[in-house]
Amino acid sequence: MSEQVLVCPSDELKEGTVRVVAIGDVEIGIIRHKGACHAYRNVCPHQGGPVCDGKMMPQVEDVIDANGLFVCQNFKEDDMHIVCPWHGYEFKISTGEHAVDPNVRLKRYDITERGGNIYVTL
Ligand code: FES
Repeated sequence: MSEQVLVCPSDELKEGTVRVVAIGDVEIGIIRHKGACHAYRNVCPHQGGPVCDGKMMPQVEDVIDANGLFVCQNFKEDDMHIVCPWHGYEFKISTGEHAVDPNVRLKRYDITERGGNIYVTL
């Protein structure tokens, strides 16, 4: 049976920030990105590192010209990642999938904002 747990008032989670909360013996990272909230267990599927304590950064993409030659690298601002601080695995904030292998993913929780507060469903 699922249970909704109050995390914090909505206005305490600013754009582009992460708040790690302990609910019982589970740590969950609550991320606000482009206005939406995302919730993931703070355990990296690689070796158990505190993934939600990592930095957020966009996907880096190579720019290749018409001749197939490398031009430069750009940040892809619409594909934001969180980077595990232990070994650098990157996960898409919008889905929790690893940046390269979508079969590797963070444990995701449903999250809602209601009445000026943020709730996570366990
Ligand atoms: S534990 Fe997260 S990248 Fe290794």
